[in-house]
Amino acid sequence: MSDTKRIAVIGAGFMGSMHASIFARLRGCELAAIVDPNTALATGVADKLGGAKVYASHDELLANERLDLISICTPDNLHLAPALAAAEKGVNLFIEKPIASSLDEARQIVDACRKAGTKLGIGYLLRFDPRYAHAKELIATGRTGAPIHLYARRNSARTEGPKRYAGKLPLALHVTVHDVDLALWMLEGQKPVTVYAQETDRLLGPIGTQDTIAAIVRFSDGTVVNFESAWSLPSGARHMIDARLEFIGTEGSFEIQCGDSGLYFADNERSQEIDTQHWPIVGGRVEGDLKRELEGVIDWLDGGNSPVATGEEAIASLELTLAMIRSAETDEVVRLS
Ligand SMILES: NC(=O)c1ccc[n+]([C@@H]2O[C@H](COP(=O)([O-])OP(=O)(O)OC[C@H]3O[C@@H](n4cnc5c(N)ncnc54)[C@H](O)[C@@H]3O)[C@@H](O)[C@H]2O)c1
Repeated sequence: MSDTKRIAVIGAGFMGSMHASIFARLRGCELAAIVDPNTALATGVADKLGGAKVYASHDELLANERLDLISICTPDNLHLAPALAAAEKGVNLFIEKPIASSLDEARQIVDACRKAGTKLGIGYLLRFDPRYAHAKELIATGRTGAPIHLYARRNSARTEGPKRYAGKLPLALHVTVHDVDLALWMLEGQKPVTVYAQETDRLLGPIGTQDTIAAIVRFSDGTVVNFESAWSLPSGARHMIDARLEFIGTEGSFEIQCGDSGLYFADNERSQEIDTQHWPIVGGRVEGDLKRELEGVIDWLDGGNSPVATGEEAIASLELTLAMIRSAETDEVVRLS
């Protein structure tokens, strides 16, 4: 691998434009290309970042560029084709979460990368939020004792997620999967064994999505985990994302409060909470968890121990999240082997 890493981003939408903007500025990286069938969109992103090349398809990209890493930011059900093509060309991959929208596609991606001997990382950015990372260490170093109970909530306004993803992506696969990854990461070594979930679509059913999903999961060591996600809060809700994680262990507990970004703007029209956590823009640059995550991806490419989720871990979080959806749809307890 050359000293400067040549990176391409596939998908120039909401996440892809931020990945491109971060990679374009990361030391030791060159944003070589952006791919999107909407070439006007990709060109708009590239022009702002010093003129990376633009391609309409991953085939064109792979035929023309020598790359060290491809970041895939296409919709979930369109991760598979670029991932398989990149692996076949021997290019390392970083894919936005969830790895894919089905277990079959996820397994194909993991198998292809394993066969090609290429690296595969999945974008679970909350692992790069220092609060969650520190909390994981509290468990790993024994400060909390043995786990008893974990509770994870992630609630947001109906004017955000549903606007972009309704009809395309279930709430659980878009939102809950973040907390599922965190729970599996923190409870490392334990496996989920039973899942029961309920959901409702009273409000957002007409636009093709759920209002809320609540799940209770039992792990192999007996730990009980509650997940609660909603994207149906009114637009005037106090917090953009009301997220928290509470943990009880035999020797200690912790609580992570992510609801309050700590920055509020108000004028004569409205008041607004501004993101300071996931991808705040400071001085025209994307910062926060996403920037730390992509810096971590470069460290991981170089063999460092940044906690980038592996393909196998992403299969595990996808499997548990899909089991929640199945339980909610059938009103039955799902048993995972
Ligand atoms: N980590 C997070 O917190 C987070 C947040 C939002 C979205 N995501 C994930 O990021 C991914 C992208 O979501 P988004 O919100 O940016 O979607 P988006 O719709 O804003 O952007 C997707 C882009 O992919 C392009 N595209 C479609 N087919 C393509 C193809 N075959 N080749 C190249 N480009 C193609 C579309 O034209 C579009 O510009 C999804 O997997 C999503 O779940 C992650």
